[in-house]
Amino acid sequence: MTSFSNTIEKNDIIVSGVQSTGILHIGNYYGAVKNYVNLANEIDNPMYFFIADLHSLTSHPNPLDLMHSRYLTLAIYLGCGIDPERATIYYQSDVYYTHELYLYLNMFAYMGELERTATFKEKIQKQADNVNAGLLTYPVLMAADILIHKGTKVPVGKDQSQHLEMCRTFGNRFNHYYKKEVFKEPLAFTFTDNLINIPSLSGKGKMSKSDDKSTAIYLIDSDSEIENKIKRAVTDAGPKERNSPLSEEMISLFDIMRVFSAEEIVNEYLKAYADCSIRYGDMKKQIARDAVSTLAPLRENIMKYISNKKLLQDIAYAGAEKANRSARITLEEVRDIMGLTAKNINLQSSN
Ligand code: ADP
Ligand code: TRP
Repeated sequence: MTSFSNTIEKNDIIVSGVQSTGILHIGNYYGAVKNYVNLANEIDNPMYFFIADLHSLTSHPNPLDLMHSRYLTLAIYLGCGIDPERATIYYQSDVYYTHELYLYLNMFAYMGELERTATFKEKIQKQADNVNAGLLTYPVLMAADILIHKGTKVPVGKDQSQHLEMCRTFGNRFNHYYKKEVFKEPLAFTFTDNLINIPSLSGKGKMSKSDDKSTAIYLIDSDSEIENKIKRAVTDAGPKERNSPLSEEMISLFDIMRVFSAEEIVNEYLKAYADCSIRYGDMKKQIARDAVSTLAPLRENIMKYISNKKLLQDIAYAGAEKANRSARITLEEVRDIMGLTAKNINLQSSN
């Protein structure tokens, strides 16, 4: 079951982040960052968009690569149009209160459920030689990211639904144990009717940073890289008879087409598939043309930020300061409730 919302209430607090494991692709953009941009433009609620550099440590990146992808992710956030005056943008590792809350929430996360998490099961296949505890507790750190600001709406793609479910569970267990409504239940957020899932160009599964580079369209790919990748996207051998159902590969390719091309064009190609007159080469050319016209201006804007190191540093610094202010309030309340401060001690009645 997916639990998500497409409305924002007056007292909602918005929190989300993207892992800095590499360059962001169109799945990250349409599933997450585009929603950040629109939220920042359209509503005045508090919102926190961070770069999840700590989560990316689970795959043991070398420090230079991590430094670059953190920086690039920040440039991409800004280049895509998130207004830093309206949204707080920061590096996750700059807010130590989150790390502390992560530790406390670990006491409310159980081994069995962590081991059953879909992303954990996938990751232990992908990096069988590095099954570290950080991978296991990945959803706990994600919950801490959200709950540290008492987040209630979390713009993410479909693949994050289970993590959000776990976040609600950990927060509820905390509230229940300490008999206090500290955390609200955060919901995934999208402006659309369903959470977004951009498929991989391999025709199987979702587009992902950790898959083969040729199966994802990155936000800084050149026009010719975009064209070549779409040209090589996996298809089936063509419909064998009229009105055949779409194969898995073609469902994926049509999903990608829907992102960039007008509805009438998509319908034309669907009709051509149904009457077996479709030419995949033409369809790919159409997608490539439409993708380039959408993505080229975005790329140019990102490039402007990439070369502006000082501005990026200033934005990250100011963002960390604001995020720490909000995080500290939650953490002090949490410590107090847990008995980790001297504030409420009454020595006379304690013996
Ligand atoms: P990746 O799997 O590429 O490493 P992340 O796990 O860092 O991506 O995801 C960052 C954000 O982008 C999350 O909100 C996630 O839901 C969204 N996202 C990632 N891949 C896709 C996709 N293929 N379609 C839609 N949203 C996606
Ligand atoms: N797990 C998310 C991803 O893979 C990144 C992330 C970390 C996140 N902490 C978060 C997303 C908190 C939303 C809220 O992309």
